[in-house]
Amino acid sequence: MPSITLPDQHLHTSHHTIMANFASSEDISQMSLSTREFRPISDHRVDDVALYDTNVLLFYVNGSRVEERMVDPMMTLATYLRDHLRLTGTKIGCNEGGCGACTVMISERDPLSGQIRHFSANSCLMPICGVFGKAVTTVEALGSVKDGRLHAVQERLAKTHGSQCGFCTPGFVMAMYSLLRNTPEPTIDQINEAMQGNLCRCTGYRPILEAFYSFARTDSGDLKVTETGCGMGDKCCKVAGNSACGSEKLTVLSDSAPYDPTHELIFPPELTLKHTEIRTFAMAHESSTWYQPSHLADLLALKRLHPHARVISGNSELAVERKFRFIDLPVVINPRQVIELHQASLDREKGVYLATGLSLTQMDDQMTEYRKELGEHESQTLLEAHKMMHWFAGKHVRNVASIAGNIATASPISDLNPLWMASATRVVLESEERGEREVVIDEKFFVGYRKTTIAGDEIVKAIWIPLTEKHEHVTSYKQAARREDDIAIVTGAFSTLLDPATQTVKRLRISYGGMAPTTILALKAMEKGEGRRFDLSFLETVTSSLAASLALPAGVPGGMPRYRLALALSFFHKHFLEVARRENITSIPAAIESTNIGESIPKEMYATQTYTEVSSSQSEWDAVGRPLPHVSGQKHTTGEAIYCADINVPNCLHGAFVSSRFAAGTLDSMDASKALAMPGVVGFFDASDVRSGARLGHGAGDSEVFVQREIKYNGQPLGLIVATDHETARAAANAVVVNATQSKAIVTIEDALDRGSFICPDMHIHSSMASNNGERVISDWNKYDRVVEGTIRMGGQEHFYLETHQCVVIPHEEDELEIISSTQSVNEVQIEVGKCLGIPRNKIKVSVRRIGGGFGGKESTAPIVAVPAAIAARKLRKPVRITLERFDDMAISGNRHPFRFDYKVAVDAAGKLLDMDVVCLQNAGHSFDLSIGVIHRAMTHIDNVYHFPNADVVGKLCRTNLASNTAYRGFGGPQGMFATEAIMFHAAEDLGMDVDEFRELNMYESSGKTFWGNTMEQCNARRCWDECREKSDYEKRKKEAAEFNKVNKHRKRGVALTPTKFSIGFGLKHLNQASALVLIYTDGSVLVTHGGMEMGQGLHTKIIQITSRCLGIDASKIHIQDASTDKVPNASPTAASMGSDLNGLAVKNACDQINERLAPLKEELGGDTTWEKLVETAYLKMISLSASGYAVTPCEPVNFGTGLPGRQMFSYAVYGTAFCEVEIDCLTGDHHLLRTEVVMDVGDSLNPAIDIGQIEGAFIQGYGLFTMEEIKVRPDGVRLSRGPGAYKIPSADDAPRHFSVHLLKGSSNKNAIFSSKAIGEPPLFLGSCALFAIRDAIKAFREARGLAGYFRFDSPATAERIRLACEDDLLDKVPPLPKDPTTYTPWVVDL
Ligand SMILES: Cc1cc2nc3c(=O)[nH]c(=O)nc-3n(C[C@H](O)[C@H](O)[C@H](O)COP(=O)(O)OP(=O)(O)OC[C@H]3O[C@@H](n4cnc5c(N)ncnc54)[C@H](O)[C@@H]3O)c2cc1C
Ligand code: FES
Ligand code: FES
Repeated sequence: MPSITLPDQHLHTSHHTIMANFASSEDISQMSLSTREFRPISDHRVDDVALYDTNVLLFYVNGSRVEERMVDPMMTLATYLRDHLRLTGTKIGCNEGGCGACTVMISERDPLSGQIRHFSANSCLMPICGVFGKAVTTVEALGSVKDGRLHAVQERLAKTHGSQCGFCTPGFVMAMYSLLRNTPEPTIDQINEAMQGNLCRCTGYRPILEAFYSFARTDSGDLKVTETGCGMGDKCCKVAGNSACGSEKLTVLSDSAPYDPTHELIFPPELTLKHTEIRTFAMAHESSTWYQPSHLADLLALKRLHPHARVISGNSELAVERKFRFIDLPVVINPRQVIELHQASLDREKGVYLATGLSLTQMDDQMTEYRKELGEHESQTLLEAHKMMHWFAGKHVRNVASIAGNIATASPISDLNPLWMASATRVVLESEERGEREVVIDEKFFVGYRKTTIAGDEIVKAIWIPLTEKHEHVTSYKQAARREDDIAIVTGAFSTLLDPATQTVKRLRISYGGMAPTTILALKAMEKGEGRRFDLSFLETVTSSLAASLALPAGVPGGMPRYRLALALSFFHKHFLEVARRENITSIPAAIESTNIGESIPKEMYATQTYTEVSSSQSEWDAVGRPLPHVSGQKHTTGEAIYCADINVPNCLHGAFVSSRFAAGTLDSMDASKALAMPGVVGFFDASDVRSGARLGHGAGDSEVFVQREIKYNGQPLGLIVATDHETARAAANAVVVNATQSKAIVTIEDALDRGSFICPDMHIHSSMASNNGERVISDWNKYDRVVEGTIRMGGQEHFYLETHQCVVIPHEEDELEIISSTQSVNEVQIEVGKCLGIPRNKIKVSVRRIGGGFGGKESTAPIVAVPAAIAARKLRKPVRITLERFDDMAISGNRHPFRFDYKVAVDAAGKLLDMDVVCLQNAGHSFDLSIGVIHRAMTHIDNVYHFPNADVVGKLCRTNLASNTAYRGFGGPQGMFATEAIMFHAAEDLGMDVDEFRELNMYESSGKTFWGNTMEQCNARRCWDECREKSDYEKRKKEAAEFNKVNKHRKRGVALTPTKFSIGFGLKHLNQASALVLIYTDGSVLVTHGGMEMGQGLHTKIIQITSRCLGIDASKIHIQDASTDKVPNASPTAASMGSDLNGLAVKNACDQINERLAPLKEELGGDTTWEKLVETAYLKMISLSASGYAVTPCEPVNFGTGLPGRQMFSYAVYGTAFCEVEIDCLTGDHHLLRTEVVMDVGDSLNPAIDIGQIEGAFIQGYGLFTMEEIKVRPDGVRLSRGPGAYKIPSADDAPRHFSVHLLKGSSNKNAIFSSKAIGEPPLFLGSCALFAIRDAIKAFREARGLAGYFRFDSPATAERIRLACEDDLLDKVPPLPKDPTTYTPWVVDL
């Protein structure tokens, strides 16, 4: 073991040079200030908290001192900041380290060197006692709109329109800020890395990247503060001097203030003076006792006394266990200040020694330093560890997590354990009793699922990573559902030592994670390979042995049995090729090509946004058509934007659900006595507290508030515990004893078909009825020569708004309830609360200022939370808040509907579509919710942009034991259109036609009628298609992809163009109405309230712009506070992309009334009268300065009962086309979206910045839907994907670096306000373009292997689906699943 040398001469390392210990009662402020004395604790009484230097938790937040004498040590920093310090800029999106909304910066002094280190961290993982002696910086410390001062990061992010709902924004700001504190002029790579742990569900990341990349130093050494490159390359207007573009950049950063690192907060001198980094600290709380020794001997003594105590290093593993599995942690030991655990050294014999007090980031930095000292051949394991580290969690987790935690956790899918095994790394363990021992991490180290040979009294002290020999080659690979910040599906690490003279394999080590309950060594294959010549027969021998020994049973836990084995074989294949390349073994043919994850990401961002500027004759005050920033944009960046959970309601109680653990069965009884006895628990509510017969449900009323008897889905609320705080309520809810009987669940569409389980009778559209006096003509399919038949499937999607469902209900006198909710529909909450509590709606006020994203998921589901909270608040006469954990939100609130489509189309010899027959099977979940509306839209969008002369479409709503699936951006449209595009590919490929020609041949002309009855007046489908084809240089890209594919065996590129037509309007006629209230005050300021909710889509900004034009005043005079039922009654939900169309018209109507009243006065006062003067005079003349506006839009729907097409179900349509280019790794199924170009028809844009933001955000959300997002449900209906750990939405790394959006010019729309078009939902389907490009790449691979013709490719295009579609020799070695599916239970099912 290396010896300790501490730089501070005052520091004594011997256990015997003990300074007198401090009394427990002593405040840290009395601690000796002058020296870094090292104070071991008496080894006999080391668990006596009184003997620690201090029992007072001291730390700094934003430069202010915080002292806590009694706090639950395991309370998270996020909770402490938000609930105790009321610093609500730090958001909570998941509470499991997976979203980054809670990112803060932590500054500490290194216990060994005393140097200050700043790092970003997830405050939701950090225990509050973990910040003892540290300084925490939150977003509030940076800048403030109120104070008129923004930090450079905030300013630039606001300028690039980098926020929409703003819930993720403080986290992004803090991630970037932390990077700048360490590296004021970072590289683009460092910026990408800094954002690894942050998710945004709204923006599509492009504007965030643009803002942050502006801080990067280019290769030439310049700061990139100016502009991003243009995706048009040489065709860029600025390069070509072409004025036809008529566009300006949305963002100009060149006038941004430079970043000045000298203005930042300094590290608190008190902490430096007191050397808190080496002080021992302990806190005894009734829930846990926290020990923080600073000496190894004390640590070991503690572990001897408390062998079952958990050692908290980074807490990244433990935090999640504690939060969701409610584990008790009576004793916790934090070893982070133990000086001996901060050592690192290089020993040429033994390798690199890294002690476990180092975070993964510090370890990585240290390894990088040693690599500089070592030869390339010696440092291969270090290099591989460095590479793997990049894909290990996100930066904020790596900044705190330790290698000890990773090894001790013994996860079978750890990223690093396979590498340690392949390289024979040794772990140093130490106990007080037996001293130190070194153990090789090999097949004997991990003894079972999450079990190791580490004894209870031992701590993991360090690892020794051996240096590699000459001709020893180490490689490692990881494949996950998402490249960045995701747990692996399979990891593989390999070490081959070659004898260069004979080219025989002297030693072979193969290790895998994800192939068994533990990390394994593939001993049989290693034995077979060793001693053989390194050639193709070696490859064949080892691969066959791996295939035979690692094959997984069909029902293996974790699922994906075929894919996992294919990955294991593919990784070895890659290793083999890499060794051959490094050793230059030319006898191994061609394919010397290795694909590394992430290899082909372009570094820079190339993004153009083209739009039409407002005419120069437009008045300056007229805000319509200008790219105004989001009205809350700056506040998003500073954390001053307030959301439901940020509102401080005094004496507020907190509710947490008792939920069903299985999906189907009966609730026999519940016993809450234990829970009610817990301190802080106030009450328990169940079905007996609900008014008789009261049920939730949009119209249908088919969903219970709490289960009375029949359990219908996993996670269903059975009851509600109310307590004084959120965590107590959760713990008590977990303590309620539930007796229930499980029954067989109906989970999939097939289950429902088998069991005849449907929500309601089938829906129909029969186009023939329109032209045949309402009589259906049944097609004679025998008359067609060319008929294509098939099935295609599309999975659901979790909304993953960053802010989960929440509400607070405040009871007032006379049964009045004030409800603040995170809903998309204040009306819906008011209706359901009124109905279920029997209170007239005039006593229920529901309001929303803003919500942190909705995407449809907060339209009809908010009452699931609001009604129970209202029941409790009313009964307890106290405010009650419910804040759903992400874990519960994902279980309860429903998803996008999964669909299966069974289709048949007929085509004539010239390639013209003749007929279509489709059955749309929808997995609706347990209740109606909005499933009927969703299936209507799927059925009316199944033409996409193609003319079907005849069509019969049937919709079946399958009732299953799932949370009720609900509205989701696109509302069934994307599912319908996906089926159409899949059908077009199927038909073209079966008939041997080029799919683009086939699509063009059948595309709607500029006008026409859909098979379901709508007349299209200005159909821009072809214009968008042609323009996108041209702007993307489609032909050239296609040719280049083909060239690339010719020379690359395992990597293929694919391109695709995908068109869309999305119809605008609510399908339910009466929802197409809106009201608004415009109030003008005598100072000229205007307050507008309308029925729409601001959820990031920029609705309030657009409404302000509309009001500006209507009243003829500057936007700065107009304000919108909230949406509230006491100002605008009966508002339709903010949905169907109708927010600005409907509410804009209502506001216009109100303004028109006021203008009419003011007109005579205006004339009397003369043209140059100011607005303020006009308003004041009007008041004095007793002219009313307020008006309520009202608007309707037309809707004549289809009769889905009979199938008779409608006359005009939707007002108009929005058109668009996307181009995508992707590259896939055919060995792993990994893919990269390289380039995206979108042309979108938004009419005359009300605000191009907002519209482009919506297009980019919807595209990336659609990209997630069609590629990586998978809802995982077990065959018994138990939901596995309940957080960011198991459910992957695209991260910044996934956003294409070539990402351009062009708004179609000259497309005024006479059917909506100021000739605009709606934009929220229409672009989402364009994300499917990535799937079709991936399919194109797979096709190239298959064709190279002689597999021509159509192949079915369901959505999403996951890595698993991609790999399994790339059928090759390796896949031939993977056993097929049993033919009879009843012989095994799959891990998860296709819903
Ligand atoms: C968002 C997120 C993403 C993640 N991504 C990945 C990933 O990509 N790959 C991956 O492999 N893992 C991942 N993890 C898991 C986890 O981060 C790692 O396992 C990490 O290394 C754990 O280290 P820690 O210091 O945080 O452990 P802790 O949570 O502090 O402890 C974990 C366990 O180790 C024990 N322990 C800790 N230190 C010691 C010690 N010195 N001696 C003895 N026992 C000790 C604890 O008692 C506990 O049982 C992720 C976790 C999160 C939250
Ligand atoms: S809330 Fe901390 S990472 Fe999501
Ligand atoms: S703006 Fe990023 S999640 Fe809404």
